[in-house]
Amino acid sequence: MKKNETQNFEVTQLLDAIFFCYGYDFRNYARATLERKIKHRVQLLGLGSISDMIPKIMHDTDFFDIFLKDMSITVTAMFRDPHVFDTIRQSVCEQLRKYPRINIWHAGCATGEEVYSMAILLEEEELLGKTQIYATDFNNHSLEVAKKGIYPAAQITQFTKNYIAAGGKASFADYYQAKYNSAKIRESLKKKITFANHNLVKDSGFAEMHLVLCRNVLIYFDKKLQSRVLNLLKNTLIHRGFLVLGDKETLDFTGVIDAFTEHYKKGRIYRKKITV
Ligand SMILES: C[S@@+](CC[C@H](N)C(=O)[O-])C[C@H]1O[C@@H](n2cnc3c(N)ncnc32)[C@H](O)[C@@H]1O
Repeated sequence: MKKNETQNFEVTQLLDAIFFCYGYDFRNYARATLERKIKHRVQLLGLGSISDMIPKIMHDTDFFDIFLKDMSITVTAMFRDPHVFDTIRQSVCEQLRKYPRINIWHAGCATGEEVYSMAILLEEEELLGKTQIYATDFNNHSLEVAKKGIYPAAQITQFTKNYIAAGGKASFADYYQAKYNSAKIRESLKKKITFANHNLVKDSGFAEMHLVLCRNVLIYFDKKLQSRVLNLLKNTLIHRGFLVLGDKETLDFTGVIDAFTEHYKKGRIYRKKITV
């Protein structure tokens, strides 16, 4: 066996072991990224091979927790890709306004910045009161950070720039309380948000969503898993509901493309067609 083939076989065994022991299924994650992260962890542990990590993963739940963190890329920001939020403000909100009640799902919300950005936007558009936001991720560590809503003060300059570029109507400082080296999101913004653990690989979707955001998540999945998740997101939406994938992902060449119209090309905002 060539070295590459051996490593590929070892990764498969490791992922099978994880699925068997913990029910987390990484078998359809994009392989190159997975391998890079696994090899990095093997190196840090000073192990001879990927196989050497299998018993450790199987018998040491604390170590599995570290592995889970490795697998979860949590890079995010308030008003990330501001043009997407600007478009939601300019043209999605006017549609949402027509409903008596609005349901929004952030799938893969990481540490919550995207969710609080949405809450701020909705408050400025006077829509927060009739909205329920569900924010989910499979990483409990990220969810704990998200629930607290406390972020390093060093990030505030960038967040403020993003907020302005996203068409923010007030002062970003109105939405957080500065404390020592951190900024705490205003409690009133949290009232309409439910944070919960949800695994896109195996859990079922929500119902009757008017807007679903799943940005910078699908890039970690292979085609098969992307297709499963996109179907889940599609079925979660009401007719004429909006799906926001963000800059990096697209519905092009996927099995669900025909179920949507393109609402905003650059930000990959789609609208579900009415089907009879
Ligand atoms: C790069 S972050 C994206 C955060 C935010 N949506 C944004 O665009 O800024 C990707 C998130 O997807 C989550 N994720 C990866 N696989 C997942 C799965 N199977 N189920 C739920 N969340 C998952 C990760 O834990 C991580 O928090």
